[in-house]
Amino acid sequence: MADAPKLGFGPFSAPNRGVVVVFCDDGLKFGPATAKVLGSASGLVARAAKAERFTGKNGKSLDLIMPEGLKVDRLVVVGVGNASELKSQDLVKLGGVAMGKLPGSASEATVFAELPKGAMTAGQAADIGQGAQLRAYAFDRYKTKRKDDDKPAGKRNITIATGDVAAARKAFVAREAIASGVLLARDLVNEPPNILYPEEFARRAQALKSVGVKVEVLDVKAMTKLGMGALLGVGQGSRRDSRTVVMRWDGGKKGDAPVAFIGKGVCFDTGGISIKPGAGMEDMKGDMAGAACVVGLMQALAARKAKVNAVGVIGIVENMPDGNAQRPGDIVTSMSGQTIEIINTDAEGRLVLADVLWYTAKRFKPKFMIDLATLTGAIIVALGQEYAGMFANNDELSHRLHLAGEATDEKVWRMPLSPFYDKMIDSKFADMKNTGGSRWGGAITAAQFIQRFVADKTPWAHLDIAGTGMDSRSSDINKSWGSGWGVRLLDRLVAEHYEK
Ligand code: BES
Ligand code: MN
Ligand code: ZN
Repeated sequence: MADAPKLGFGPFSAPNRGVVVVFCDDGLKFGPATAKVLGSASGLVARAAKAERFTGKNGKSLDLIMPEGLKVDRLVVVGVGNASELKSQDLVKLGGVAMGKLPGSASEATVFAELPKGAMTAGQAADIGQGAQLRAYAFDRYKTKRKDDDKPAGKRNITIATGDVAAARKAFVAREAIASGVLLARDLVNEPPNILYPEEFARRAQALKSVGVKVEVLDVKAMTKLGMGALLGVGQGSRRDSRTVVMRWDGGKKGDAPVAFIGKGVCFDTGGISIKPGAGMEDMKGDMAGAACVVGLMQALAARKAKVNAVGVIGIVENMPDGNAQRPGDIVTSMSGQTIEIINTDAEGRLVLADVLWYTAKRFKPKFMIDLATLTGAIIVALGQEYAGMFANNDELSHRLHLAGEATDEKVWRMPLSPFYDKMIDSKFADMKNTGGSRWGGAITAAQFIQRFVADKTPWAHLDIAGTGMDSRSSDINKSWGSGWGVRLLDRLVAEHYEK
């Protein structure tokens, strides 16, 4: 990873070196502390804005090198648009924009957390800080050669200047914890599959013990004893043994039913005997983005000491073709007792989730279960990369997820479940088959399949993140492939509704 910048908060004072970032609105207005610092340079800013046709639109910026009248090397003006309309997520993005404007060589930067009407609130200043952290992430662990002018000039220090420094620091604690969860999830998604195989994934999850999460690892023997024939069938063609990892954060009242998060962790998906075409197959190292999100979320909840009981359960396997791999036509028995005819070994994620969902509902009797999975190409056909597909058996949970998605910009779009689609997975030979038979409604038949493993009518939502978990688009707050999608969404859901 690129060295994370050192981020701190300080009072407004005239910076005399490095880069200074300031904000203005769409009237090119600055706050009083900013205007004071700009002083005689404000004429220069006005001229540059005119020459650049910079009008202060949200997310746009103006760059001045060696500005006359200032001691700093560079002045960056970032537009916020209409300053009275900014939501938390907008400030996170602006923090990302500000971070993105710092040249790699800059070792010292000051960001003035001020809007035209005055200092940003502590929460807003802290949002800027979180955005900067998310943006600064780069997965470059395996790059051994870097050009000299790419190299950062040592440790980067970023100071966010704000009105109430102590309050901003306090507000930043939780936001930094959440960011640490997002970055952990991104790391897991970005890691190559020869390094991150199921046992290694389980080891990385065990590192959460350091923040107070209890971690149990179920090996093949334990899962065999539990009867997890669906999950184990997927992993049987791999030289790497499967694992299930159970993580628990007990920050709520003793005895209070937990909230539960379940993740698909296919460390690599070749398709198995129903092997995938070669082009783009390398992307299937990210087929564990659901599990990565759950680990990142547990890290975030624990690091910010969330007042909630939460469990995270991830099924981790590798789907490989091999002499011992499962075949189309095989019938496996899941932990629930229901039998499944394997039609296509590439529809493996639902098999993993079947056992892990059943296990979670039975063992923990949670308030709700939310699973995340890079489950189907069909959801990408339906929704592209902007929304994740959401399926739910509960309107309240669905509504809450929808709102948390709007607030964090990790958006979900509800898709239908119905007996008509459910019938499509009935099998001639077993209780059900693992595909719908045709490609039509492929994301829905997958969701119907996993719904059959939601025990005891537990409130449940399934998020198909095939389009959002690995994001080839880059954004203001993420430049890496792994997006860490879902950590901020689910943290927000918990914070809004399940902490007392
Ligand atoms: N992991 C894939 C889904 C996927 C595709 C995720 C592209 C991310 C990007 C999943 O295991 C899969 O192979 N699904 C099949 C199901 C089909 C065989 C019924 C699919 O979507 O084609
Ligand atoms: Mn597959
Ligand atoms: Zn898969």
